[in-house]
Amino acid sequence: MAALWSLNPYFWKYRWHLLAGILFVALTNVFAVYAPSLIGEGVNALKEVETEYLAPLRSGQTAVFEHAVNISAPSTLERLSTWWARVAPPVRSEDFQSKEDVLKFIAWVAAWQAILYVVAYFIKGLFLFMTRQTIIVMSRHIEFDLKARIYEQYQRLDTGFYKAHDTGDLMNRISEDVSQVRMYLGPVVMYTLNLIVLISLVVSVMLYIDLELTLWSLLPLPLMSVAVYAVSRRIQSQSHEVQSLQSDLSSFVQQHISGIRILKAFRREAPTAERFSEQSDQYKTSKLNLVKTEALFTPIIVLLVGFSTILTIYIGGHRVMSGDLEIGHIFQFVFYVNLLTWPFASVGWVTTLTQKAEASMKRINDFLDAEPTIRAGGEPLPGPTSEPTLEFHAVSYRYPDTGIAALSDVSFSLSRNQTVAITGHTGSGKSTIAMLAMRLFDPDSGRITYNGQDLSRLDVKAYRANTGYVPQDVFLFSDPIGENIAFGVDDASSPTIEEAAVAAHVHHNIAAFPKGYSTQLGERGVNLSGGQKQRISIARALLRHPEILILDDSLSAVDTETETHILDALKQGSRDQAVLMMSHRVSSIRHADWVVVLQNGRVVESGHPEQLLSTDGVYAQMVRDQALKD
Ligand SMILES: Nc1ncnc2c1ncn2[C@@H]1O[C@H](COP(=O)(O)OP(=O)(O)O)[C@@H](O)[C@H]1O
Ligand SMILES: [Mg+2]
Repeated sequence: MAALWSLNPYFWKYRWHLLAGILFVALTNVFAVYAPSLIGEGVNALKEVETEYLAPLRSGQTAVFEHAVNISAPSTLERLSTWWARVAPPVRSEDFQSKEDVLKFIAWVAAWQAILYVVAYFIKGLFLFMTRQTIIVMSRHIEFDLKARIYEQYQRLDTGFYKAHDTGDLMNRISEDVSQVRMYLGPVVMYTLNLIVLISLVVSVMLYIDLELTLWSLLPLPLMSVAVYAVSRRIQSQSHEVQSLQSDLSSFVQQHISGIRILKAFRREAPTAERFSEQSDQYKTSKLNLVKTEALFTPIIVLLVGFSTILTIYIGGHRVMSGDLEIGHIFQFVFYVNLLTWPFASVGWVTTLTQKAEASMKRINDFLDAEPTIRAGGEPLPGPTSEPTLEFHAVSYRYPDTGIAALSDVSFSLSRNQTVAITGHTGSGKSTIAMLAMRLFDPDSGRITYNGQDLSRLDVKAYRANTGYVPQDVFLFSDPIGENIAFGVDDASSPTIEEAAVAAHVHHNIAAFPKGYSTQLGERGVNLSGGQKQRISIARALLRHPEILILDDSLSAVDTETETHILDALKQGSRDQAVLMMSHRVSSIRHADWVVVLQNGRVVESGHPEQLLSTDGVYAQMVRDQALKD
């Protein structure tokens, strides 16, 4: 239960909901227990009247009736009258002179009992409603708070964490795990409170009436708790299996629908259909198993309650015959046994739910306790100095998951109003440099400085606000194009968005869409070409007028003509801007002020492009190779 204890501050936060909930649970149960006692009382009264008055009357023994009214059983009438006095003016024995008087009185008593019974149930229902309104509402509030905290943590953690964890698994924290925990906060809390209050009330009323009958009629109920626990554990594990098979099935379908073109081109229809029916069959089998187990649930409860009822009537009957019990109490007990059914069954259910919630809460806590490895240094950004804007000093980096040494001993510098290009073949480490420059992770050794200050000491958020990053894998949100460009700039006006789009040479494409900048992207919107996506991503970076612009192979999917347009626009617009441009294509970088050539994560050459061309090294070779291809 250790993990669930961490929820206590939330209970404290919503303590008034919880306290009100406890009060309402108690009130609900008081009325739930009171109602059957009306039935018991009513039956006892009718029984007495029957034997004392009606039976003699029916058999024509008027004398016995007279006798009963006047002498033998005034106590019965008195008892009834005492009860009656609670709802109407008191009656006395003298009022019963004829059969009609007695019958009328009985009818009144019965009617009042019935009305009171209905009213008691109505009030019980009202309080039950209030219980749900407080406890379930509390659980929804806590669920909301928990989700907000998890989402905050998602954003606080750095890319290193996301590399080490599976996305689907992380998504489960906020959906699956939180709903498990909510089951604990809502239903479990509510049923547990209900259980405690109801059982103590009912059992004490039962004990007050008859100890022996109480013991016998309660005997089968703990068995029910155990049985329900066993069945619901089985249901939980089986439904887990069903869920995972179901998600396998839907991701199978989703993948093959998205890849339908490849599927058809490679003529894989028949084998795919076969694999689908195999998976589908597995799902069916496990679902049927689940249904079989679920089918046990109600019969077990009904069986044990039935058993309990039989015991109550049998033992109760004996006790009535031996004169230790009144018959109405048997009725009352049968009601109570039924009233206790759900609480006893819920012990098993609540236990399973609590175990699951505990496991989920532990996962949530582990996640919430994770600390980002990139710590914000918190120092304000230094203003421009004579130092380069961005400088790598003998930087090395190894990816912890694969152990690949992506960069070794890389040094270069980038100043204001300068374009530095990093080139090299695929896998040479260009993207790694871009990510290090964005401080998405920190170098293993060496230093990166910004205006002469160590990057790790500076406020990351402020630094990133000064940087425009166009990652190699373009990511656009399923939002309108305009919003995608304005991403991260809250108050971007339409003219500035357009200006950025013009600079990224994508404005004419967007303007050609019927809805222009309001065109929806993504699943339910238009699909853009790779080059268009890249240019929108560039526009997004340009809109911020960043001090440092990082383009990671951002022109790989645009044709050379468009590339020239964009590079020209960059040159014009980039007063004071420092541009770091990664490209495996040499045509993009021939106008750069400085070129760094990487091979297997090491700098093999660097210099002005013209100068490199004349030294006839790796760069010159790349230029020759690519000229041949074009
Ligand atoms: N997320 C990653 N995890 C592990 N290794 C990676 C990751 N990204 C890149 N690498 C490896 O690091 C090396 C450099 O990759 P990268 O910087 O992407 O090169 P480039 O951008 O020049 O193609 C490659 O060997 C690549 O396999
Ligand atoms: Mg790359």
